[in-house]
Amino acid sequence: MWCLFVSRFRSTLQKNKKTGLEMVETAKAKRKRSKTAVKEEETTNASSPSTYHTFHDTADVALLRSQLLSWYDKEQRELPWRTLAVTESDLNIRTYAVWVSEIMLQQTQVATVISYYNKWIKRWPTVQDLAAATLEEVNQMWAGLGYYSRGKRLHEGAQKVVSELNGQMPRTVDSLLKQLPGVGRYTAAAIGSIALGQVTGAVDGNLIRVLCRLRAIGADSTSPAVTEALWSLANILVDPERPGDFNQAMMELGARVCTPKAPLCSQCPVQSHCHSYRKVHVKQEKNSRKLLGKLDRKPLSLPDIEDCMNSGTCPLCPSEPWDDELGVQNFPRKPAKKPPRVERTLTCVVIRPGEEEEDEYLLTQRPNKGLLAGLWEFPSLLQEEKTSDVKQKQALCSEISRISGTRLTDSLLQYVGEVVHIFSHIHQTYVVHSVRLKDSDTQTQSENAQWLNRSALQEAAVSTGVKKIVKLCDSVVSQKQQTSKDAKRQKHVGTKTGKKPQSSKKPRLSAADSRQLSLSSFFKTVKQES
Ligand code: ADE
Repeated sequence: MWCLFVSRFRSTLQKNKKTGLEMVETAKAKRKRSKTAVKEEETTNASSPSTYHTFHDTADVALLRSQLLSWYDKEQRELPWRTLAVTESDLNIRTYAVWVSEIMLQQTQVATVISYYNKWIKRWPTVQDLAAATLEEVNQMWAGLGYYSRGKRLHEGAQKVVSELNGQMPRTVDSLLKQLPGVGRYTAAAIGSIALGQVTGAVDGNLIRVLCRLRAIGADSTSPAVTEALWSLANILVDPERPGDFNQAMMELGARVCTPKAPLCSQCPVQSHCHSYRKVHVKQEKNSRKLLGKLDRKPLSLPDIEDCMNSGTCPLCPSEPWDDELGVQNFPRKPAKKPPRVERTLTCVVIRPGEEEEDEYLLTQRPNKGLLAGLWEFPSLLQEEKTSDVKQKQALCSEISRISGTRLTDSLLQYVGEVVHIFSHIHQTYVVHSVRLKDSDTQTQSENAQWLNRSALQEAAVSTGVKKIVKLCDSVVSQKQQTSKDAKRQKHVGTKTGKKPQSSKKPRLSAADSRQLSLSSFFKTVKQES
């Protein structure tokens, strides 16, 4: 029996591989296919393990679709890309708009994306507008969204559409996948179904969770067997009349009801189809009967009908034991995450007086490839364990000296504090220093460096780490201001009462510092040595 399942599974795999997302069909063909596929499953393989982990009844599938879509019609959030996907009649613009949303939504929460998306579409409403922008403008717009290569790829993709595809966005899932950089299997399927009405499932993180729970798939959700099983399930379930809505309804369900923690099973529109829910409740009922003693011979209110017939060897069943405390959260299972790499980076906020004495900050550009590609940051140096702190500070100073054409020594750098920023794979600590140059004539000696005033810095293409560093500096300045005010007040009270002002543990500012402090006045002024 199991062999039969494996061979069927392989053939599905093969089929998926061969045709890839060409599995996308016209609505009519899909309706026919999905009905026959479900029937086949039912007749040839009724008791094999695959029937437990898939849907084998057309009526069940139809019911699930209609329950989910009715819930979505009532409960969906109004999101700008959804509105555009419905109201925009130009297919090219619609595909472009959904493409932008799907790229922004990769690894970023809906709530964060909304304002970025609105600003983006206002500035670049068509693929042609985006193609005409510079990468610097794109990075600037993306600043704060994270995973910066996404913006770069969108820009590259737009330029490709304009220069190689005659300005026409690809019109099928397969060509989206082939033609657009940064568009993978999920993104192509999402754009295809939402913007182009292509009938395909789309498996993202939310769908992985929803489908694993619906069909009690507890093996490592990143394994090839589970991945293919989930795509196959998504393709069986997708509604041929409303594929885009169906996929978004599944995402919505995952985001709002079938959540990673504390799922709201009582509000789930497809609860009656959920194997995990049933498992949890059958187990609970059995446990409470055990507690009550064995006298009770009444049948269980939820019949314990189903389980995978081959759970010992099934590639979709959990290898870890069931944990009662987790409930439906026993699904899905992921392999343990690798701990992030720990890094420390020495960084220095270099300030000079600019025009009309307005402070300017020195920024350098990161390389065009790799982490935070092309973004601007304060001069920085990745710390090495083997090199002493003094040596590293000296190295950073000589780098700043090289860029700014000013000679600095490490003793002039003032320690400000530390900022932690966590990337998906790196736990980064920025060790922040500052220095203030006296001379406004310092010229940057490098193409990849510039002086920016405060408002330009706020608009620049900088990472969240840089924003956090600015925030740290601001908070240190306002602390100093507070200390200064307190000191003044104490001095005033002391003069009035004739008492000596109380000593404070924090260093007090001199009379010369009692003026309003700004970020710049906090930083040490350095006599230049060249
Ligand atoms: N995540 C990815 N695509 C989405 C969409 N269209 N709506 C909500 N969340 C999403």
